[in-house]
Amino acid sequence: MLIRTKRDWELPESAATPESVYLNRRALMTVAGGIAGGLALGGRRALAADAPAPNPAYTLDRAVTPEAAATSYNNFYEFGTSKDVVSAAQKMPLRPWTVRIDGLVEKPMTLGVDDLLKAMPVEERLYRHRCVEAWAMAVPWMGFPLAKLVAFAKPLSSATYVELQTFGRDVYAAPGLRQPFYPWPYVEGLTMAEATSDLAFLSTGLYGKPLQGQNGAPLRLTLPWKYGFKSVKSVVRISFTDKRPKTFWALLNADEYGFWANVNPAVPHPRWSQARERLLGSNESVPTQIYNGYGAQVAGLYKGLEKEALFM
Ligand code: MTE
Repeated sequence: MLIRTKRDWELPESAATPESVYLNRRALMTVAGGIAGGLALGGRRALAADAPAPNPAYTLDRAVTPEAAATSYNNFYEFGTSKDVVSAAQKMPLRPWTVRIDGLVEKPMTLGVDDLLKAMPVEERLYRHRCVEAWAMAVPWMGFPLAKLVAFAKPLSSATYVELQTFGRDVYAAPGLRQPFYPWPYVEGLTMAEATSDLAFLSTGLYGKPLQGQNGAPLRLTLPWKYGFKSVKSVVRISFTDKRPKTFWALLNADEYGFWANVNPAVPHPRWSQARERLLGSNESVPTQIYNGYGAQVAGLYKGLEKEALFM
């Protein structure tokens, strides 16, 4: 993860959509989509897929990041090491796209991403996102709880971790995959308790639209209480295991990018203080909160483990 000096996403504060305006627009879109979806397709499923209802449990303490910033300033190393991966990532073929579910499950399976989505209850959530590079955003994701996929996958009781993997050379050879010193494919992992917590989310859309390549289409993990590198993009495989996954960044540098990676303003990264964060769009600097502000929901997952789980 490189330090960047030129920031294309720096928009004047006035350009950010105030949350109230944004939420009203979403509410209108949802009502309109509901009427249109209900009439045209006559079903709850159509309504959920076309215009998922915002989940009122997930609100923000800050303005929603301008869409242009969240969709143009991205980390996606498979496409290169700069933040400007939009044109390369948008060349990634998104269909057909299969997801393999395997490991310690009742029955391993490979299914098309659209068949998987049909089986999942799609909703919208406003989440904060905090990158270890000390920038942050707040965006409306569409998707479904990872817990729903875990239930669908029927893991065996011996499974203690979930591992999620991005495409590798065998699926799609993105330009950055040519960097032989990176341990492709990009892998991330969670304990089963984390994966079945309410906050863990699999995203399929952003700002009311399908995800674009640069944000991890067609399916990406979204973990708002952890540093952004845990939120693995463009997932092709989800495996259940009884061993702690060997994650991409930890393979590169375990001291700097640990397995837990829970946001903690008190523990600096060697290159970035974690005390404050810069908001994409407004460039405002605000204090970082423990667990990125989600302690009420997730601190219980780490009872007795705090020393390890809050270190990195
Ligand atoms: N997933 C893959 N496969 N490759 C990556 O390089 N970067 C991570 C994460 N997921 C990354 C990835 C990092 S460091 C961050 S901060 C987020 O994606 C950025 O997500 P965004 O570009 O949608 O903001």
